[in-house]
Amino acid sequence: MDNPVIITERLILRKMTPDDTGKLMEIFSDTVAMRYYPSTKNESETMEWVKWTQKNYDEYGVGLWIVEDKVTGEFLGQCGIVPQEVDGVIEMEIGYLFVRRLWGNGYATEAALACKNFGFERLKLNKMVSLPDVNNIPSTKVAERIGMQVIKTINKWGKEVYVYSVSI
Ligand SMILES: CC(C)(COP(=O)(O)OP(=O)(O)OC[C@H]1O[C@@H](n2cnc3c(N)ncnc32)[C@H](O)[C@@H]1OP(=O)(O)O)[C@@H](O)C(=O)NCCC(=O)NCCS
Repeated sequence: MDNPVIITERLILRKMTPDDTGKLMEIFSDTVAMRYYPSTKNESETMEWVKWTQKNYDEYGVGLWIVEDKVTGEFLGQCGIVPQEVDGVIEMEIGYLFVRRLWGNGYATEAALACKNFGFERLKLNKMVSLPDVNNIPSTKVAERIGMQVIKTINKWGKEVYVYSVSI
């Protein structure tokens, strides 16, 4: 296992590398999984995503991490802490995207909860947010299950998103 950042009951979250491009494309090429994003991503766009994530690691010490099954090492998805601008301020967002055939196992909630605890306990953040499209019910349910509440809606990425927030 490379660069583990967080370990939970069933999962390992580790840093993303360019070698993950092929695995990430199972999510990014899936029109259903990408329904609330502007479009699917091809290989070069996925490589740009990895570079953007690695830039977040360098600049902020956080970013999306690769989520794997702790026992088998199977790729499950990505989840992590992503700096996002909300009304002119950089907030730390908990983000999650998982392989569609593995939805409904609680992996996103388990990973997102671990990221919330990591943010508060290890990074000493005071507040974390999630920014789901208002129509993305599975995503809003993850935010609610980890104890976040809607504080407002904003226009971001050319669409209406909820600002879910949790503070300590
Ligand atoms: C958002 C997303 C990660 C949610 O995935 P998910 O599988 O619904 O969420 P979880 O992994 O938390 O699983 C929760 C479900 O598993 C069920 N479950 C089964 N076993 C479970 C277990 N051991 N523990 C917890 N939940 C379990 C829960 O009951 C719940 O089902 P429900 O939604 O019918 O109530 C997924 O839809 C996704 O990847 N979407 C594409 C990317 C995206 O839009 N991301 C959000 C951007 S803001």
